[in-house]
Amino acid sequence: MLKSIGFYKVKIAIFISGNGSNLKNLINHSLKKNSRFKITLIISNNPKAKGLNFARKFKIKKKIINYSNVKYTEKRILIELKKNKIKLICLAGFMKILSKNFIRIFKGKIINIHPSLLPKYKGLNTHQRAIDNKEKYSGCTVHYVNSKLDSGRIILQKKVKILKNDTSKSLSKRVLKHEHVLYPKALKKILSNL
Ligand code: GRF
Repeated sequence: MLKSIGFYKVKIAIFISGNGSNLKNLINHSLKKNSRFKITLIISNNPKAKGLNFARKFKIKKKIINYSNVKYTEKRILIELKKNKIKLICLAGFMKILSKNFIRIFKGKIINIHPSLLPKYKGLNTHQRAIDNKEKYSGCTVHYVNSKLDSGRIILQKKVKILKNDTSKSLSKRVLKHEHVLYPKALKKILSNL
């Protein structure tokens, strides 16, 4: 159970691999007056992730973790999480798969944003596959992470209409804007469900 009582803010770690637009957006939300969470750690497997610039900008602790040995790497991550009293992990464009063991240790405390209407289109290239299949809608989903890829319990979902001339690029750009609304909303929902 996540604790956020009175002025106590839940400490969150965000895991990224790339641009970090969701990270930036969550940081901005965390800085709002009534926010119930605080981002105190950013973890990236990619030293070149653009999102790491936000760690510098907002003075948030960052750790770049080399993923060559999963067992060792996850051990290091767990030490960092413990040291920083992290209560919730938000994956935001994190391109590595966490082991079953790791997920078990943080059971119910890892969430992810995925650019599709889950359970449809798990995995990569979601928008292209939705367009190829002539779907009317794509979208995004915030869900709990369990040991099966993109299969954990859904927290919130947003449908986004696929337009006639949409390419994967135009669609992902439009969906990303909705992701920036959905992720903080989902966080609010789980943090107030205490
Ligand atoms: C987002 O589309 C998210 O749904 C997916 O990876 C992308 C990350 O984008 N998991 P950003 O790095 O937050 O800009």
